Amino acid sequence: MDSALSSTQTSAAEANSAKRETLTITDNRTGQSYEVPITHDTIRASDLRKIKIDDADFGMMSYDPAFSNTASCISRITYIDGDKGILRYRGYPIEELAEKSTYLETAYLLLNGELPTAAQLKDWQYHITHHTYIHESIKKFLDGFHYDAHPMGMLISTIAGLSTFYPDAKHIFDPESRKKQTYRLIGKMPTLAAFAYRHTLGMPYVYPDNDLSYTGNFLNMLFRTSETRYRPNPTLERALDVLFILHADHEQNCSANTIRSVGSSHADPFCASAAATAALYGPLHGGANEEALRMLAEISSVDKVPEFIKRVKAGETRLMGFGHRIYKNYDPRARIIKKIAYEVFDLMGKNPLLEIALECERIALEDEYFIKRKLYPNVDFYTGLIYQSMGFPMTMFPVLFAIPRMSGWVAQWEEMLLDPEQKIARPRQIYLGHDTRPYVSVDQRV
Ligand code: ACO
Repeated sequence: MDSALSSTQTSAAEANSAKRETLTITDNRTGQSYEVPITHDTIRASDLRKIKIDDADFGMMSYDPAFSNTASCISRITYIDGDKGILRYRGYPIEELAEKSTYLETAYLLLNGELPTAAQLKDWQYHITHHTYIHESIKKFLDGFHYDAHPMGMLISTIAGLSTFYPDAKHIFDPESRKKQTYRLIGKMPTLAAFAYRHTLGMPYVYPDNDLSYTGNFLNMLFRTSETRYRPNPTLERALDVLFILHADHEQNCSANTIRSVGSSHADPFCASAAATAALYGPLHGGANEEALRMLAEISSVDKVPEFIKRVKAGETRLMGFGHRIYKNYDPRARIIKKIAYEVFDLMGKNPLLEIALECERIALEDEYFIKRKLYPNVDFYTGLIYQSMGFPMTMFPVLFAIPRMSGWVAQWEEMLLDPEQKIARPRQIYLGHDTRPYVSVDQRV
C-alpha cells in the first residue's frame, strides 16, 4: 500500500516536475542535482555558478566563443528567424517597410518603437535635416588624410572626432542630450561619408542641401559638380533609400554587439559608434560587399566560375557575399536587393559582373558543398553590383552600409543603456596559460 502510494505520488511529482519551466542538471562529479529556471527557452548563465565541487570552486561557467549560442541582452528592436528567412523591425516585415516606408521613417521606428504620426515624422525629418552640417574643423581634419586613404578609415576617425566637438554627448543619461546626439549622428553620417569621398577625388566639398531628401542630399554631396542646383535621379534616390532601409538594423551582429559593449563603459555615443563602424569595416561583416565585388572582378568571366567554385570548395578562398551566421535559408534582404538591382540596371545599363554573380549563385545553389552548409547569398552579394552601377567606387561600399546602420546602432545603444540588467560588458575566460613561474633574467634565457 505504502509503496503504491509512494509510486502514485512519485508519478504526480514527475508530472508536476515535467510541467515546471526549469532545467534539472546533474553534476556527475558530485552526484548533486540542480534545478535552474527556464525563461524564454533560455537559462541564465549565472545560475550555473551554483554548480560547484566544493566551496572553494568558482562555479560552472558556459564556454561560447563568438557568442554563437548566447543571448547577451533582451531586445525589442529587430526580430530574425534565420531558418525561415524572416526579418522584422519592431514587428514590421522588412518587405513591407522596403515597399512602403522611407529610411528616415524606418529610423524613427527603430529608435522609438512605433511608426511616427505625420506630425512626428515632419518634426523628425526637420531635426535630422538641420543637423547635417559639420564643423569646419572636420574639413581640416579630413584634409590631413592621404588622397588614397580608405573612406571607411576617414569615416571612423571623423565620427570619433565628433566627440571632441560635442562634449555634451557625455550626458548619456539625459534623454534630451541623447536625442540631440541621435539627430547629429544620423544627420551627419551622409555628410562625413560624402566629404571623405570628395577628399579622395580631390574635389571641393559640397554642402548639404536641406531641401532634398536624406538620400537625395547624399547624392548631391557626392556627385554635384557645376550645376546650380543638383537634382537627384528619383529612381536612384529611391533605390538608395530602400537599400538604407534594408541595412538599418540586424539585431545582435558584430557591430551592434560592439556599440553595446563599448557603450556599456559609458563612452559617449560618438566614440561608441566609431567603434561600431570599425567593426563593420571588417571583410566578414560590412566589408564583404567590397570583397564580393573584388571577387567577381577577379573571376572576370562566366566560364571561369566553375574553376573558382572548385577553389572555394577546396577551402582556398570563400565565396564572398555568401553565408550568414543566422540565415540558414535565404537572406530576405538579398531577395529585395536583387529586384532593385534590375531597376538600377534598367536605368544605368547592366553591370557586366552581373552574369558572373548569377552564375556563381546558380552553381552554388545546386552544389552539395553549399547546400549542406546552408550557404545562400547574403545582403552583400548584390549590393556591390548596384553601388558600382550607381557610380560608387568599391571603397565606398562599406560606407554605404555604415550610414543607415547608424540608426540601428543608436537604437541598440539606447536600449542597452536603459536596461537595468545591463552593466559594463566583461566576459570571462578559461585560462590555459602557464601557472606561476619565476622571472628569468635575459642572460639566463635560452
Ligand atoms: N564560402 C565558402 N564556404 C563558406 C562560406 C563562404 N562564403 N561561409 C561559410 N563557409 C563554410 C565554412 O568554411 C564552414 O565549412 P566547414 O564546416 O567545412 O568548416 C561552414 O561553411 C560554416 O562556416 P562558418 O565560418 O563557421 O560560419 P559562420 O556562421 O561563423 O560565418 C560568415 C558566417 C562570416 C558570414 C561566413 O559565412 C563568411 O565568411 N561569409 C563570407 C563573408 C560575407 O559574405 N560576410 C557578410 C555577412 S552578412 C553581413 O555582415 C552583412
